Amino acid sequence: MVTTRELMDKALALAGLDKEPADTGIYLEGEDIKKVLIGVDMETPEILLGKELGVDVVISHHPTAGDQIIKFHEVMEVQIDKMVEFGIPINHAQKMIRKRMKQVELGSHVRNYDRSRSAAKLLDMPYMNIHIPADFITERYIQGHLNEIVKDRPKAKLKDVLEGLNLIEEYQNTEGKPVIRVGGPEDYAGKIAVLMAGGTNGGEDVFKAYFQAGVGTIVCMHVPENVKKAVESQGMGNIIVAGHMASDSIGLNKIIELWEKDGVDVTKMSGIV
Ligand SMILES: [Fe+2]
Ligand SMILES: [Fe+2]
Repeated sequence: MVTTRELMDKALALAGLDKEPADTGIYLEGEDIKKVLIGVDMETPEILLGKELGVDVVISHHPTAGDQIIKFHEVMEVQIDKMVEFGIPINHAQKMIRKRMKQVELGSHVRNYDRSRSAAKLLDMPYMNIHIPADFITERYIQGHLNEIVKDRPKAKLKDVLEGLNLIEEYQNTEGKPVIRVGGPEDYAGKIAVLMAGGTNGGEDVFKAYFQAGVGTIVCMHVPENVKKAVESQGMGNIIVAGHMASDSIGLNKIIELWEKDGVDVTKMSGIV
């Protein structure tokens, strides 16, 4: 008999975690799970759809309720480790991330933390979300994949990185393909940093710090206009946006595969390719 707790534990283990990070959790527990409905964004309409389809749990990637929203900024701390890994001093990393966490907290504190969760309770539909664990899996996978692509090729260009990304099934199957946002196809890629599991984008100062620490190209899921413009005017590094839905799908699909091995029937929707 599969429970929501077991589904969560499998995902955490695959991500190398032993407990839920702040942006991940079970909103309403369920037992005897045979059918799962999962998507990138799953809120009240999708919970109703789940009821209609007769599933036993609805699972969202992005957080939709509770502390996962209110304390969302806390997961951004993991960006400090990532920055240190790429050679940025830990003191510098912490101060930059703190500043950005405060901006994010201002926005998340005022959000309606109960909308979709209350719908799940009224419909008695087990409901949970798995955010950063899936993004960790995506990030590690793509970093490893691209490291192989540019290995022993110091003159690899952005077009080669795009080609490498397009070898991955999820990028072949998506409508939102990988694109170069800063730089051109003939620009040298240099050292690649895949940044997909920080909760949200670190902002222009963080990107600049990566370039100053020797990174040539950042591969991420989304880049706001102000960050794109700032990085362009810095004239140091490149940005490739690998595509949001496909990138989120990579980690989720690896978790789903594990559940399916346990005999759970999984229906994917809402952005999962
Ligand atoms: Fe994600
Ligand atoms: Fe996402």
